[in-house]
Amino acid sequence: MRLVGALALLSGVHLGAAVRDCKTPQTVVIDGNRLVDAKARLGRGDPSLLPALGHLVAQADYWLTQGPWTVISKTAIPPNGTIHDYASQAPYWWPNPNTADGCPYIQKDGVRNPEVDNYPDKLSSISLFNSTYALSLAWYYTGNPKYSVHAADIIRTWFLDPETAMNPNLNHAQIIPCANTGRSIGIIDFSQDYTEVLDAVAILNTGAPGWTTADAKAFRAWKTQFLQWLAFSPFGVAEAEAKNNHGTYARMQITAMALFTGNLSLARSTAELAKTFLNDQITANGSQPQELARTRSFHYSNFDLTAHLRWALTARKLGVDMFKYVGPQGQTLFKAVDFLVPAAVNGAADWPYPELLFTQYAATDNVHAAAQEGDLVAAAAVKDLQPPAFGGDIFVLRPAPQQLDNINTTG
Ligand SMILES: *[C@@H]1O[C@H](CO)[C@@H](O)[C@H](O)[C@H]1NC(C)=O
Ligand SMILES: *[C@@H]1O[C@H](CO)[C@@H](O)[C@H](O)[C@H]1NC(C)=O
Ligand SMILES: *[C@@H]1O[C@H](CO)[C@@H](O)[C@H](O)[C@H]1NC(C)=O
Ligand SMILES: *[C@@H]1O[C@H](CO)[C@@H](O)[C@H](O)[C@H]1NC(C)=O
Repeated sequence: MRLVGALALLSGVHLGAAVRDCKTPQTVVIDGNRLVDAKARLGRGDPSLLPALGHLVAQADYWLTQGPWTVISKTAIPPNGTIHDYASQAPYWWPNPNTADGCPYIQKDGVRNPEVDNYPDKLSSISLFNSTYALSLAWYYTGNPKYSVHAADIIRTWFLDPETAMNPNLNHAQIIPCANTGRSIGIIDFSQDYTEVLDAVAILNTGAPGWTTADAKAFRAWKTQFLQWLAFSPFGVAEAEAKNNHGTYARMQITAMALFTGNLSLARSTAELAKTFLNDQITANGSQPQELARTRSFHYSNFDLTAHLRWALTARKLGVDMFKYVGPQGQTLFKAVDFLVPAAVNGAADWPYPELLFTQYAATDNVHAAAQEGDLVAAAAVKDLQPPAFGGDIFVLRPAPQQLDNINTTG
């Protein structure tokens, strides 16, 4: 007994916690302890988690029949790029009918040019993020290796196999032909969902069948290169300096990647910037004036807030508690969520701002996230939230907010 106690002391952890700690996923957005707790509750047969488990397994079963995806399946090579570069085309720009070469392209807002299908990478990448997240979580909770084996295959194909791997840059996102070979704002193609795959891999890293330590090492090396591009390339710098949701998503992504790859100085300094973004974007009554000014103000208010809330989850692991932070005018993340609660619960009648396509469940995960952190207004609203139309409400098993309504956010 004494020897075991001494070993536990040497390793610096209490023996009771040691078993649990080595299996706690080192997720960079989700709090890994919440995953451990949910799994333990499922193990005890807690019936309140079964509906969410049913939804998660149904999502994972769907993804078992899909993918893997690769950037090399596109039919067009990006200008100045290679087939291994990610590419997407701005959807609302069309060839000029009055010129022989179609240049310069002209904008028809909201009218999608079918040429964009020459670059299917954006849709493939969203499938990559959605699938690996659901599959890794389904493996974590059920222990069925078919889920982790497929997740591992998808991740290797997209990021790691030399034949099919994506280069670690977004130089060719949201291309407008004739005008450019990519744009900084195209980074949002990735940043809105990308951090899901970091948490998926952190879950697989707890010992998932099909995912090896060599895979884990290669994945981390890819991330380190991609982080260099995101943090220091001209496009990466421009996107992170945006004052609206583009900047929130870009900084959130950099913070999470820096934590994932172990660059703690970059992670901490970027986490601190969450305060500036909250001060500048959220008012004392919780409104987000930049997003309220848009034609899809409920969508964009939720979209930007999802980035803030995900950023806050990551920042807390770095010693920056944005859930408790109060801005100089009294602004808080909870107030920003509370501003959306009436419409989250009662629908469009309680949203007196412009909104072309009101989707009540756009707010569902943000309200869940605030409730989880102790926001009493949000907690009282949880029972009345509308579940997303597809996939069901799985927040209790995936305790970090997602953008649940589907929209093409770049044009
Ligand atoms: C980039 O591609 C465009 C269009 O294909 C071409 O006109 C231009 O010369 C290229 N620039 C470089 C630096 O290769
Ligand atoms: C970490 O980020 C800093 C910038 O804050 C950068 O200069 C440095 O190269 C990064 N370190 C590694 C190991 O990537
Ligand atoms: C919230 O605060 C902003 C900025 O002060 C103000 O313009 C807006 O009218 C307020 N909205 C409500 C609903 O109080
Ligand atoms: C990915 O998941 C989001 C919800 O989080 C959903 O809106 C979107 O339609 C999904 N897309 C694909 C391609 O699965």
